[in-house]
Amino acid sequence: MRQEEIVRSFQVAGQGHVFAFWPELDTARRAALVAQAAEIDLDEVARLHRTLVLERHAAADLRALAPAPYESLPEKGGDPAKWARARATGEEALRAGRVAAFTVAGGQGSRLGYDGPKGAFAVTPVKRKPLFQVFAEKILAAGRRHGRPLEWFIMTSHANHEATEAFFAQHGWFGLARERVHFFRQGRMPAVGFDGRILLEGKGAIALSPDGHGGSLRALHRSGALGLMAELGIDTLSYFQVDNPLARCIDPAFIGFHLLAGSEMSSKMVPKAYPEEKVGHFCVQDGRLVVIEYSDLPPAVQRETHADGSLRFVAGSIAIHLIDREFARRMAGGGVGVQLPFHRADKKIQTIDAAGRPVKPDKPNGVKFEMFVFDALPFARKPIIIETRRADDFSPVKNAEGVDSPQTCRDDQLRQFARWLNAAGARVPVDATGLPALALEISPLFGDDAESVAASWRRLPSPPELKPDLYLE
Ligand code: UD1
Repeated sequence: MRQEEIVRSFQVAGQGHVFAFWPELDTARRAALVAQAAEIDLDEVARLHRTLVLERHAAADLRALAPAPYESLPEKGGDPAKWARARATGEEALRAGRVAAFTVAGGQGSRLGYDGPKGAFAVTPVKRKPLFQVFAEKILAAGRRHGRPLEWFIMTSHANHEATEAFFAQHGWFGLARERVHFFRQGRMPAVGFDGRILLEGKGAIALSPDGHGGSLRALHRSGALGLMAELGIDTLSYFQVDNPLARCIDPAFIGFHLLAGSEMSSKMVPKAYPEEKVGHFCVQDGRLVVIEYSDLPPAVQRETHADGSLRFVAGSIAIHLIDREFARRMAGGGVGVQLPFHRADKKIQTIDAAGRPVKPDKPNGVKFEMFVFDALPFARKPIIIETRRADDFSPVKNAEGVDSPQTCRDDQLRQFARWLNAAGARVPVDATGLPALALEISPLFGDDAESVAASWRRLPSPPELKPDLYLE
């Protein structure tokens, strides 16, 4: 579309104010504003304002929810032979190069108060490795173990894309082959006032924000990532969030269960740590698998128990999924009935008034729209959930202090390292919670589970002295 047509389409849609300061803008700023405007689907914005703001359609439908079934761990009653078969199948898929890693790293990290791409946040106890390095080493280790290096797709946002790429370049791609690390930006959505008018961030800029991790399906398609995967013979994406360094980003048993079931999208669960834990809840509704966010599920339902006192809605989402390539393509296409819903979030949005003066709101003045990737589950054929051990898969860094903070994550890494070493025959003293008294760290290149750590430990010429800041690589 040419400039004038774009401007006209905004006027017709009642959004002409976006160009109110046009006469004051120089050519470059006009072009930048038009480029932003061209990203916006005006019909979609009007529909979202009508349904989510005016008619206040609840994002979550809570009718007839039942807890979702899942594949239990062997030590919790699962069938060990089935787990072994799944693992062998997953390993075969990895040897065949069918799996790629996929990190969503487009979030704004505002709760952590860290200014920069969240993946650059230093997280390990001794070496202070950034989150991205932890994942890079796990991906490198998985590639070596299966004799097949993995591709890694990383979704960024407009705000952090350049900084993310520069961070990888500065660190030599953390030992990975540069051409196997693929960055792409997620899409953006405009913020609107409660009256439905698109908000301006400045005279020549629209208030745009990331479209949620659900935008990853569209972005994978648009960026050409799905096409590249098809060319390379990759059919499965291993999806994880940038905030969780414990994530087993490449987990053969999980991959095997997914492939053996013929599933288009699979997820991992952990039993909730306590009834009101802030995680999504896996549920079944009308025969379909759904995730209901903690914020949408009434506290009384979160606390419901069985007769024996165990939690009814026990399956918490740790946001680790496997996604079939062609399923992602189908969802990205957004045909009739296969559109991810948007969720509304009321926010304080920095904007300008009609005279162009900055407005710093002290209460929400508008709405942002986001999609969630787990909303794809009800569209997937044969989705499955498997149980995983929290201590081996989940300790996110979300808040500056308290739960899910750098401190809790550091402690959980330390407990994991000590557990693995003690299982291998070392004698690391730990307290009642498994926390070692001395800081130590194991690189995923030494080992990334109890088995691989034990194998590397056995290969050491002599056991290292257990002193503070012990680092094994
Ligand atoms: C999320 C899940 C929750 C799950 C929990 C586990 C949602 C709404 N909730 O909560 O079900 O139990 O994690 O830790 O997702 N991101 C993008 N682009 C965006 C927004 C987010 O890439 O536009 C990425 C972030 O970089 C991050 C991840 O998505 O890696 C999670 O985002 P965040 O908003 O922090 O989710 P939570 O509310 O913590």
